[in-house]
Amino acid sequence: MRPTALIPALCCTAALVLAFLCLFAGHKKDFMEDYHILTLNVSRIGEGLVNGTLGSDDSTLGSLWNLVPDSIQDNVGEAAGVVTEKLGIEDFYSAHLLDYCFGQFTPTEAANATISASDIHKNVTGCSNQTAMFWFNPNEIIEKALNNSGLDVTLDDLEWPDDIQSGLDALRIVSITAFVLYCIAIGLIFVSLVASLPAIFAAGRLAACVNLLISILAFLAIGIASALVTAVIEKGGDVINEHGNAIGVTAMKGKKFMAITWVATALMFITIFVWTFEMCVGRRKKAPFVPAKHG
Ligand SMILES: *[C@@H]1O[C@H](CO)[C@@H](O)[C@H](O)[C@H]1NC(C)=O
Ligand SMILES: *[C@@H]1O[C@H](CO)[C@@H](O)[C@H](O)[C@H]1NC(C)=O
Ligand SMILES: *[C@@H]1O[C@H](CO)[C@@H](O)[C@H](O)[C@H]1NC(C)=O
Ligand SMILES: *[C@@H]1O[C@H](CO)[C@@H](O)[C@H](O)[C@H]1NC(C)=O
Ligand SMILES: *[C@@H]1O[C@H](CO)[C@@H](O)[C@H](O)[C@H]1NC(C)=O
Ligand SMILES: *[C@@H]1O[C@H](CO)[C@@H](O)[C@H](O)[C@H]1NC(C)=O
Repeated sequence: MRPTALIPALCCTAALVLAFLCLFAGHKKDFMEDYHILTLNVSRIGEGLVNGTLGSDDSTLGSLWNLVPDSIQDNVGEAAGVVTEKLGIEDFYSAHLLDYCFGQFTPTEAANATISASDIHKNVTGCSNQTAMFWFNPNEIIEKALNNSGLDVTLDDLEWPDDIQSGLDALRIVSITAFVLYCIAIGLIFVSLVASLPAIFAAGRLAACVNLLISILAFLAIGIASALVTAVIEKGGDVINEHGNAIGVTAMKGKKFMAITWVATALMFITIFVWTFEMCVGRRKKAPFVPAKHG
């Protein structure tokens, strides 16, 4: 019986759960929506149209104005709400590893004197179908919404910056590699967990050594996946904020996603540490049982 082997077993179990949650967060409506990778906040686009800061072509804006009831034309916020609703554009689009979700901010789009930022929640309307090797394509998503709206409005009318998509496309391979590594990591952490169970009952350096090797591989997979996804979050968020700034489009970075993926990585590091310790202690324990025969 080797009670210290319980530590890796527990760490692997927790890491396995967290790695699963990384992969499946947001895979369906309202399942861990806050654990997004990136969220694109486009709630201000309508306001730009209404204020006349967007839509260089007057006829575009004119045709949109006709859709806004007279009674609310003076209220920028409400008129903007009607305009985006007619265009079929949601408040936010959030990217996850397997799909994207979209919906409205509730109770309001932006914090004001009575409603603080922490009171604003996402009301998810729906999510795309799950796809392995998914990558976020806001240009296509918004173009499709505009096409379906039946109005003659294009991305150009919104002054939608192409640099957002080209910046995100540069991260596509990184994101897909991270997805593949999460799948591999889940497999290796599972093997690591199963291999640690016999080691609880059978002490021995060989068992510790085999376990150490497997847990190193699992650690590398989850560690590299975490590093890649962190790069996607940081770089993707910066690209969107930089190029979207002019039309009021912002990105929210997936801080909670980063938290769980790095905790999973840390747990696998602890596992490696314990198996290394076990190997060394296993060696030292043998010494008293081998009597020194000198003379
Ligand atoms: C629209 O106009 C209102 C008031 O005139 C202003 O507070 C708001 O920041 C403007 N929004 C944009 C996106 O220009
Ligand atoms: C969405 O973006 C706008 C414009 O930058 C900002 O004022 C608003 O607070 C953001 N909404 C949320 C919920 O972060
Ligand atoms: C803040 O927004 C809410 C929801 O739109 C609105 O009811 C409230 O009057 C606003 N408060 C202020 C001070 O503008
Ligand atoms: C979320 O949106 C749906 C319709 O889109 C609405 O019926 C529901 O009341 C909203 N929930 C909240 C909490 O605002
Ligand atoms: C999503 O899946 C459903 C059935 O599984 C299918 O009917 C639908 O066309 C799919 N939607 C897209 C956008 O692929
Ligand atoms: C939207 O319509 C344009 C012109 O008809 C077409 O070229 C484009 O592919 C459509 N986009 C989407 C995402 O369906």
